[in-house]
Amino acid sequence: MHNTHLGDWLDLAPTLPASSVDLLYADPPFNTGRTHTSKAGDFEDRFESTSDYTAWLGDRLEATLPSLTPSANLLIHTDWRTSHRVRCLLDDLLGADHFVNHLVWSYGLGGSSPRRFARKHDDILFYTRDPERYFFDPPMVPATSNRMKGELKKATDVLDIPSINNMARERTGWPTQKPLALLNLFVGACCPPASTVLDPCCGSGTTLVAALGLGRRAVGFDRDARAIALTEERLATHHSPA
Ligand SMILES: C[S@@+](CC[C@H](N)C(=O)[O-])C[C@H]1O[C@@H](n2cnc3c(N)ncnc32)[C@H](O)[C@@H]1O
Repeated sequence: MHNTHLGDWLDLAPTLPASSVDLLYADPPFNTGRTHTSKAGDFEDRFESTSDYTAWLGDRLEATLPSLTPSANLLIHTDWRTSHRVRCLLDDLLGADHFVNHLVWSYGLGGSSPRRFARKHDDILFYTRDPERYFFDPPMVPATSNRMKGELKKATDVLDIPSINNMARERTGWPTQKPLALLNLFVGACCPPASTVLDPCCGSGTTLVAALGLGRRAVGFDRDARAIALTEERLATHHSPA
């Protein structure tokens, strides 16, 4: 079961039933100062300042809290530009003892810099509303050590998952689309089967595809009509109604 809604996260958050969301995964703009443009659409990612950005995100997270279950998990996707500020924001909003992990998604896409270590990861901040009884099912990934070759081991907080390449079948053309493998891992690890996942900036709908594929319910918001249409199209292809 899924629902998609066109509009601003801030306006749509209060329309959600109280205590109905088990996992909030948000992949919002990152404050890059750019317009992200790609084949299927574009979105503005400009704020006056980092403080404006964190205020923007803070308002939306605060508006979403009533819809989260008392033991819900939150995964907020950021990068080097704001991860430090968003972590402080989440500490203030939920309590520093509600922090679970700072996940590093290492995507290893080409390019390098003569001036610094090449920036090749995103930061995903994992918090929970209830540190005593939150859901976590450790994901298993292939072991890399010689001793465990061919076996699986519990994932660490550094996730090596390639970004979507130009030829990948899952590529929709939406700018900054995240790989399904990453969302499958997050959804499977951070909310139980048959629970509800909310992605309030759903873009091409990767989170919803992962959630439905793993037997969860999914709610997606986006303020761009093309993103909502793309999400619906993707869900129709991946999941014809039973
Ligand atoms: C980083 S992209 C999400 C990409 C998505 N995770 C995927 O895999 O396709 C951010 C999305 O947030 C949407 N967005 C930006 N501001 C928004 C707002 N205030 N409310 C809802 N959606 C918003 C943009 O239209 C864009 O689709």
